[in-house]
Amino acid sequence: MTAIRSIPASSLRTGMFLHKIGGSWLKHPFLRNKFLLTDPEDVRRIIEAGIDEVWIDESRGDPLEMPELVGTDEDAREPFVDTLAESPQLRAAADAPRESRRIVTGPVPLAAELERARSICLTGKAQVQSMFEELRLGNSVRQSDVLPLVEEIASSVWRNPTALISVARLKTHDDYSYLHSVAVSALMLALAKQMGLDEYHTHLAGVGGLMHDLGKAFIPLDVLNKPGKLTDAEFTIMKSHPAAGAQALQDGGAEAGVVDIALHHHEKMNGYGYPHGLKDFEITLLARMGAICDVYDAVTSIRAYKAAWDPAMAMREMARWDGHFDKQVFNAFVKSVGIYPVGALVRLSSQRLAVVAEPGEESLLKPKVRVFYSLRTKEKILVQTIDLAAPGCNDSIIGPEDPEAWDLSNLEVLWL
Ligand SMILES: [Fe+2]
Repeated sequence: MTAIRSIPASSLRTGMFLHKIGGSWLKHPFLRNKFLLTDPEDVRRIIEAGIDEVWIDESRGDPLEMPELVGTDEDAREPFVDTLAESPQLRAAADAPRESRRIVTGPVPLAAELERARSICLTGKAQVQSMFEELRLGNSVRQSDVLPLVEEIASSVWRNPTALISVARLKTHDDYSYLHSVAVSALMLALAKQMGLDEYHTHLAGVGGLMHDLGKAFIPLDVLNKPGKLTDAEFTIMKSHPAAGAQALQDGGAEAGVVDIALHHHEKMNGYGYPHGLKDFEITLLARMGAICDVYDAVTSIRAYKAAWDPAMAMREMARWDGHFDKQVFNAFVKSVGIYPVGALVRLSSQRLAVVAEPGEESLLKPKVRVFYSLRTKEKILVQTIDLAAPGCNDSIIGPEDPEAWDLSNLEVLWL
């Protein structure tokens, strides 16, 4: 019998081990999904957030404090475990040998990881560029060639999940094709960790993220780098990159999970994606993850034909696209990157503009921000860091703002 049960939030007590919170992620007051409830204040926050139902893990609760429980085993199934089991490819891969992941003692501060993240971006960009060149010359690329780089990316993400993701987003359109791969790899690793995937599938996610767009090496440069809208004929050419990349990866002996991410990262849940128009769970979990990470990095990056979207606005827009993404995986993605990711421009209730500088430790809605502009006086103000989760802080985020509407650029100087 499973030790995980659903209970009404009103039955929650300290001593219980919180396994999952039900309902909309917008209501979720914590960054962590799973933890032992020791503070009555946390119980109060869950109830006040309007959450009706929670899942608890009886095997991990404090036995001295565990009261009688209600709920059914059927209700308590872990959704990501279900999703994983639906994919024959992942099920088949489950017995495959596992990569050992570097042991990390704990998260390091964002500022301390940013420099290393920058250096990984430089190395990663050069390596991805050389893979593109090899493919254009007709040579093959091997999954094993990128393992040290993926290990470096993973180590950075485990040390601090925000640093590399934030730095890799800041690319010029010339760098896009190469740094996009590094960014997607980092996003995939953070997402895999958030979803609790095992080491083997986490590893596939990181490698697949790095190699997902290699098929673009076969797209003529005038189409790939065209500053304007593609014609129908050009778009048809562009749509050949997933199959071309998958073929190149297969020729180089890449694992099936990595080939699959390359082949299906442009599929959509509603069946309107390409190349195969797969629907719902016909798309594997890794490819559904790839679709989200790919689009997020694409829309938040400067491209030849468009400015970058603000990261928080991208999150809001992507949440509105019905039928594109797996909603459950998207919810996990939001938790891994943040509702207000680092670098997002936000309006505060104090009528000031601020940039998100660091994720909140307890709540996705209360990051550390740097205020720099007063909307009342319409003037720049002395830059100041505010922890919106600090006791006594009365300020809060009203919502994201579009930097273009305020004619703001180089916002990264406020957090980098
Ligand atoms: Fe792509």
